[in-house]
Amino acid sequence: MKYVQLGTSGLRIAPIGVGCMSYGAHRTPNEWSLQEDDALPVLDHCYRSGLNFFDTANVYSAGSSEQILGKAIKKYAWNRDSIVVATKVHFPVGRNGEKPIGWGADQRDNAGYLNQYGLSRKHIFDSVDASLRRLDLSYIDLLQIHRFDPTTPITETMEALHDVVKSGKVRYIGASSMWAHQLLEMQYTARMNGWTQFISMQNLYNPIYREEEREMFPACLKFGMGGVPWSPLAAGFLARPWKTWADTTRGNGMSDKPFSEADKRINEKIEEIASQRGVSMAIVAIAWCLSKPFITAPILGLGKKERVDEAVQAVEFELSEEESQSIEELYEPKKVTGHK
Ligand SMILES: NC(=O)c1ccc[n+]([C@@H]2O[C@H](COP(=O)([O-])OP(=O)(O)OC[C@H]3O[C@@H](n4cnc5c(N)ncnc54)[C@H](OP(=O)(O)O)[C@@H]3O)[C@@H](O)[C@H]2O)c1
Repeated sequence: MKYVQLGTSGLRIAPIGVGCMSYGAHRTPNEWSLQEDDALPVLDHCYRSGLNFFDTANVYSAGSSEQILGKAIKKYAWNRDSIVVATKVHFPVGRNGEKPIGWGADQRDNAGYLNQYGLSRKHIFDSVDASLRRLDLSYIDLLQIHRFDPTTPITETMEALHDVVKSGKVRYIGASSMWAHQLLEMQYTARMNGWTQFISMQNLYNPIYREEEREMFPACLKFGMGGVPWSPLAAGFLARPWKTWADTTRGNGMSDKPFSEADKRINEKIEEIASQRGVSMAIVAIAWCLSKPFITAPILGLGKKERVDEAVQAVEFELSEEESQSIEELYEPKKVTGHK
């Protein structure tokens, strides 16, 4: 594996992130997540294949994703010093099958989730402790804010993030989907106060969603932040011919979000290139993401060992200029999605 710097930070990671949203107890809320017994061998295969960057969140499968990752680290005696454990803070972690992520503030507050979401000092401190308990670790390598919090002063959030770093419980901080102007304000607030700045941006990016090229990625480059996008395969849509995607559990569950004609043409172009080059569609789509100078490591959902192998293969696979161009010229601008 050829490891790379995460942005201009000193942290070195594999150029493929392991998305741990794929692992967790069933129906919390995903039908398609792998339960512990099935997830652990896949996770270990990732580690043995040289992948060292694991991305989870407090909220994934109501905390069970963090627990499974923690178990993999212990069960297979991974070298803690080499791996990079990334988790997130913002959304409330549901209890007893509840899904407060989709509720408004009043409903959350009155149902017992008061102060257990957002980016207040109180919640950031509590959430870090809860994640460490679930992961059964003494520190988090990368704590990412899952979204921007418009209700908490930015100074409060950035100082609290700095303080969890100074406490030793967190090594680096990162951000996730938001508007570029919000990121700029947060970074400059940290910079002006001598506080810790974000080293990474985890946002939606793939051949059928490229809106982040306009403002966010140029902003990230200015700050030396590494791009670690989510859903680089558009949740699996770009890994198989579009006509068969709805047959998958995940595709079926997303049938209310139809893909556009342009999306389908991009899918067909990826299929054509994959067939000409004798590789899978997933390899072509991952290689396209990796070819961008603002991308450090796309974060993939990997539910089978063969998929891990394909992701690793994609690191060495190069598309020609003409092939990349033929995918890109089919893109049509979209409404911003992935955050409000
Ligand atoms: N920050 C955020 O707001 C945010 C939002 C969403 C996700 N994320 C992060 O991003 C990660 C990835 O998200 P995602 O799951 O949507 O990403 P994705 O990689 O675009 O999609 C994963 C899907 O692609 C399929 N797939 C992967 N490799 C394949 C291959 N070689 N051939 C065929 N199918 C393949 C997987 O199927 P199988 O499961 O059957 O292998 C899975 O259903 C998450 O786990 C999470 O860590 C972050």
